[in-house]
Amino acid sequence: MQSDPEHLSDADAADAVRIMVKEVRQRLESLLRAGVKEVPFAPVFARRAPGARTASGPDAAGFAAEGDPGTILPAAPSSPAPAIPQPTVAPRPEGRPAPARPAAPAAATAPAASFFQESGFDSPALAAAERLVVLKDLAEEAAGCRKCPELVAYRTRTVFADGDPNARLMFIGEAPGADEDRTGRPFVGKAGQLLTDMITKGMGLKRDEVYIANILKCRPPENRPPQPEESANCIHFLERQIEVVRPEFLCLLGRTAAVGVLKTGLSMGRLRGKWYRYRGIPTIATYHPSYLLRTPSAKKEAWEDLQLLMTAMGLRIPPRKKDQD
Ligand code: URA
Repeated sequence: MQSDPEHLSDADAADAVRIMVKEVRQRLESLLRAGVKEVPFAPVFARRAPGARTASGPDAAGFAAEGDPGTILPAAPSSPAPAIPQPTVAPRPEGRPAPARPAAPAAATAPAASFFQESGFDSPALAAAERLVVLKDLAEEAAGCRKCPELVAYRTRTVFADGDPNARLMFIGEAPGADEDRTGRPFVGKAGQLLTDMITKGMGLKRDEVYIANILKCRPPENRPPQPEESANCIHFLERQIEVVRPEFLCLLGRTAAVGVLKTGLSMGRLRGKWYRYRGIPTIATYHPSYLLRTPSAKKEAWEDLQLLMTAMGLRIPPRKKDQD
C-alpha cells in the first residue's frame, strides 16, 4: 500500500485519479437523483491538512458531527435543517404517496454544498484489489487477537465480514452469534435471514452487493451483549474496515453498533430515522434484526429507515401492496 500520497508512483497516481473520478461521479449522480442541480466546486476540493478534523457540531445539512451525537437532528417535522436527500427533492417513484413521516419544509432543504462533504479520511482510497489484500491482512490480525480472554476462550473462530469490499453500503451489527461462530460469516442465523430479506426483498439489492461487519469479531458467551472494554478492544478493526471499504452509506443495526460508531448513549428509538455522519459518511441507525424478530411491530419503523436510505442511495422504493391494487 502506498502510504504517502505526495509520492505516488505513476501507476498508483493513475489509480488514485480513477478512484477519485469514480467517487465524484457516484456522488454527483447521487445528488442528481436527489434533485440537486448545482454544486459549488472550489472549496470542496481544497485539500485538508493531514490530521485536520472537521469542526464538531451539526453541519449545514443538519448532520450530527462525528463524536457529537448530542447534536443529532431533531425529528423531521420540527427540523430547521433536514438531512440528506429528502423526499421533498428526491424524485418519487410513480404513484408513490408522500412518506408517512412528514417531510421537512422545502425551504429548509440543505444547500448542495453540505451534501458534497470532503472525505473524513486522511488516507487516499484504495484500489479494489488493494482493498482485498488489506482486509485479508486485517482479518488475519483479528483472528490472532487475544485481547479479550473470555471471548478468546469461548470463540470457535473470529467472524470478520461478508460482502463486497467496494460496496456503496455497509451494514454494522453487534457481534457474532452461534451460527456465525460456526460458519465464520456474519448474519447467517435467524437475524441474518431477516437482514438478508431486508437487503434483498426490501431494498432490491443482492446480499453480496453490500458489506456486512460487526462491532465485535468474536462471539460473546451465551450471546450476551458486548462489554464496553470488549468493544473498545475491537473497534479499531471496524474503523479500519470502514476506512478501507469507504462506503457511501453506513447503516448501524441496533444500539451496540450505534454506541460503537457514533459514541452515543441514546436509545435506538431516539436515534433512528435521522442522518448522522461518521467521518463524512452519511450514516443511519435502525433496529437490530434480532430486536425486530422479538418485536415485529417495530418492522414498520425499520422499513421507514430503509426507505430513507434507499432514497439517499437513489434506489427505487417499491409501491406499497395496497397502492398496487
Ligand atoms: N447479530 C449480529 O449483530 N451480528 C451477527 O453477525 C449476527 C447476529
